[in-house]
Amino acid sequence: MSQLLSLSRAARLVGVNRHDLQRKIQVGELDSFDGMVSIDSLLSAFPGAQLEDNTEYSRVQFIKERAFGKRVFERVMPDVETLAVRLKELGTELMLSKSQNEHYKMMVDRLREQIVTYGREASIEVKQALDALKCWLDVEVVAVLEPDYPNPLAVRNQMLRVLSALVTVQPSGQDFFIDGPDTILEAALRAGIPLNYGCSGGNCGLCRAKLVSGEIRKTRFHDYVRTEADKRDNMFLMCSNTAVTDIVIEASVAGGVQDIPFQQIAATVKVITPLNEDMTLLHLQTPRTNRLRFLAGQSATLILSKSLKAELPIASCPCDDRNILFHVKRMPGNLFSDYVFERLRKNEVVDIEGPQGEFILHEKSERALFFFAFDTGFAPIKSLIEHAMSLETFSAIHLYWIGAHENSLYMPNVGRAWADALDNFHFKTIVANYELDHLPDNRALKMLDMFDEITQAHPEIVDSDIYIAGPHAASAFAEQIFLGMGLPKSRVFVAD
Ligand code: FES
Repeated sequence: MSQLLSLSRAARLVGVNRHDLQRKIQVGELDSFDGMVSIDSLLSAFPGAQLEDNTEYSRVQFIKERAFGKRVFERVMPDVETLAVRLKELGTELMLSKSQNEHYKMMVDRLREQIVTYGREASIEVKQALDALKCWLDVEVVAVLEPDYPNPLAVRNQMLRVLSALVTVQPSGQDFFIDGPDTILEAALRAGIPLNYGCSGGNCGLCRAKLVSGEIRKTRFHDYVRTEADKRDNMFLMCSNTAVTDIVIEASVAGGVQDIPFQQIAATVKVITPLNEDMTLLHLQTPRTNRLRFLAGQSATLILSKSLKAELPIASCPCDDRNILFHVKRMPGNLFSDYVFERLRKNEVVDIEGPQGEFILHEKSERALFFFAFDTGFAPIKSLIEHAMSLETFSAIHLYWIGAHENSLYMPNVGRAWADALDNFHFKTIVANYELDHLPDNRALKMLDMFDEITQAHPEIVDSDIYIAGPHAASAFAEQIFLGMGLPKSRVFVAD
């Protein structure tokens, strides 16, 4: 059997996401063996894949860059030392293969000679059989020497291994690529995998993991002193090392909000961007050695000027490195809001406490996802959607952003960019023309009509997962609609 690949590597090789491959396996168009696929069966399922054809891979990268912005999915090369080690490994493999090839060639030549020698003294029947064998051998040797003989995916796989390494995490079974000069921890967070860590700067030792197989390289200095037992057990710091080859590690992954500790971090204002006269985008950056650990969809408490506090949903995903985004609404008379709109400046310190909340993505589900954002409920929904995209496992996403007024839909371009970039992403905005934080009977009737229209357009919604965020009155109303349709509570999630 040809070489076996993990689903992540196979998906990258042919430029599709893992969900597309899983679908092909389910319908019997691609064979899998213990969760792996062979390079030959991959080529049969994607016969168009060519050695020099990077169109699909580039398309997927382009989509990600367009959907997230370059900040999250910038394509960068590994550092020079890591590249050098990978090239050296590849060179060694090449030399080994070359010498094996020489040996096989010699054996084939000798076999040919032996066939001729035996043929001289053999009976007519045996001689005919030996001649046929020699002919077959000649044809096969010529075929092997043709330039297009090797499986193009096998060759491309070797090339991609120079640029990136695959990390498989045990016992969770999740995997992710390290593409650029990232540490193992940084690459995991970018891929939406919440590995356990603390300082992210080589001090606390909380990111210790066990190297089960493969080769790593230290790329960042750390103060944490590895004990003799650590060294004996192959324990290393994920925040200070990168992978040179594909590796398997044993590491703990946050399974839920209970695994994320309470943190207090002094961040700084990176940029304040007015979105319209009522909304502003507050972009904070945490220190390199003290990132905020949170799960997509959670909130954090912001403290301005040491005393003005507000709890706000985080509008970015943990995959966005040290960048933490918030959507702040203008509320005249509210001291926090007034300070953000009138006094807060770039580089000012903002204390962050948290995270809080249990409105998170239920990653193991393979169902289609329906998101309903009311007004500023778009912030946590945006975080969840970015996280879902970084995981690459969703089948379809539908986003409805329902605003009380035109101004309440303050970032429509974000949803449009996602819909433009991703085939299975659907985005719709609705202006209710009434406030959503209070629903007397006349408004409730209008909202009922609106959801009737949505559910009739999507009968598959009863088999989907529903996420709802925004003012309590609208969210609770929408939740009741879906529960009333018979969806279990375990598939209808409402921001707290
Ligand atoms: S996270 Fe603290 S040492 Fe790595």
